[in-house]
Amino acid sequence: METNQNDYFIVKAKENGVQVIGLTRGQDTRFHHTEKLDKGEVMIAQFTDHTSAVKIRGKAVVLTKYGTIDTQE
Ligand code: TRP
Repeated sequence: METNQNDYFIVKAKENGVQVIGLTRGQDTRFHHTEKLDKGEVMIAQFTDHTSAVKIRGKAVVLTKYGTIDTQE
């Protein structure tokens, strides 16, 4: 597959109950995993054969090679 799946992204929760939701790659776009983070918890993840997009619910800071974004802004 041509997509770059090596890049990591980081999510740092700024409140309890932040959700990092993985969406499936391919024709069918659906949630396949929800990870819940409490305040201060950090998730380091990659895009994979199974995961092409990620949705984040709640207050968090997201770091990617494109920059850093705060979900509250
Ligand atoms: N089993 C999933 C996968 O290999 C694990 C995963 C990777 C994931 N990146 C993710 C789950 C991002 C949620 C969000 O694709």
